[in-house]
Amino acid sequence: MITVTSHFSEKVVGEVLIPGDKSISHRSLMIGASAIGETKVKGLLESDDVIATVHALRCLGVDIEKDEKNGVWIIAGRGVGGLSQSNKILDLGNSGTAARLLMGMVASHPFSTLFSGDSSLCSRPMDRVLNPLKRMGAQFGELNIGYLPITVFGTDLLKPITEVLKIPSAQVKSAILLAGLNTIGKTTIIEKQSTRDHTENMLKDFGAELVVEETEEGKAVMLTGQPELLANNVYVPADLSSAAFIIVAAIIIPGSSVLIRNVCLNDGRTGILETLREMGGKLEIQNIRESGGERVGDILASYSNLSGVTVPASRAPSMIDEYPILSIAAACASGKTIFEGVSELRVKESDRLATVSSGLNSCNIKVLETEDSLTINGVDVPEGGCKIPTNGDHRIAMAFLVLGMIAKKPITVDDVSMIETSFPKFLDIMENIGAKFSREKG
Ligand code: S3P
Repeated sequence: MITVTSHFSEKVVGEVLIPGDKSISHRSLMIGASAIGETKVKGLLESDDVIATVHALRCLGVDIEKDEKNGVWIIAGRGVGGLSQSNKILDLGNSGTAARLLMGMVASHPFSTLFSGDSSLCSRPMDRVLNPLKRMGAQFGELNIGYLPITVFGTDLLKPITEVLKIPSAQVKSAILLAGLNTIGKTTIIEKQSTRDHTENMLKDFGAELVVEETEEGKAVMLTGQPELLANNVYVPADLSSAAFIIVAAIIIPGSSVLIRNVCLNDGRTGILETLREMGGKLEIQNIRESGGERVGDILASYSNLSGVTVPASRAPSMIDEYPILSIAAACASGKTIFEGVSELRVKESDRLATVSSGLNSCNIKVLETEDSLTINGVDVPEGGCKIPTNGDHRIAMAFLVLGMIAKKPITVDDVSMIETSFPKFLDIMENIGAKFSREKG
């Protein structure tokens, strides 16, 4: 375990390039594997979560290599329905996206696949994906009902379904779409609350017939099964969920200003920008353009005086991974910030409502936690002087390291190893723009 202490840092300044988007990286590998020909991916996020997807797809018979000369990843696509049985357990480590999307993919193949993961992943609910896949005709072997390890008994005779999503989850939507890819007929998903649509964008880009329509029930995403997907070049933009840590650091530390280039601005992801602006955050989005079916732009974040706001439940899907870092901004804002309708945070890499609230409490910031909400009472300058248990959660570790940069006394996080799952080089990138961190072997 490596423990890191975050010390008062005068300001953060500079221009940064940060690693590729995690959601798009997973999908580029999976959809590339389902296409005919060689898909080339530039800017793939080389984090533990994404590498878990690389290993799993290799176990399923897909050749994936990195060209070390130019950093481009090359996927030898096997066409829709072209995976072969793995003779190894697929260990997806900490990655919920990898596990859930791949379960959807293999469900439409006539073989069995055993999925597992680390202790955090094995305690996250999988029934949200298993239930619709069961309705399509897949079967599952579960020791602990609804949790990994799970064996997927797939079939190439899945039936298309119409699924009205009960939980607004891009992972569930994508798992069903990837199962529908090798299913004759039209698979339809209806979302009452929109979620990130990277899967839809990329499937269309690879040639799938996918139609999105507003209906009385919600947004309907309709995919015609068994298309011939053609290999493509994918350019992965920077991850807004990672950029958020730098953005908040720039906004809460006086005198700061940071430009982050080439960030994915998918509509289903930008809730954090909307919320920080409502709080008074100075954010400029420059050079907005379109790349590979996604909106990208450069974000300039500068020190601002923040005020507390109420973040409505309806915004949660568009910033679901950003609540830990937003809670740090809220701790530095004047007045109260309320997060409504956030019970989903209890089933992320850790119970994020509990880890955030106990972490903030130990920094002397008053927090009120209910089953599905959090109220944070901002302070002038946070106290700090404490050690935060991250519960193996990368975003908790990064969020509290940012808080330590502005606190009166240093803040230590018990383990930073999990940061590798989403944001390799986080510590170095932050230090390059002014963060003061010290590392100790725990
Ligand atoms: C993701 C969707 C979100 C998010 C996760 C990545 C994706 O999960 O929390 O980090 O890539 O589809 P849910 O869709 O389950 O909310």
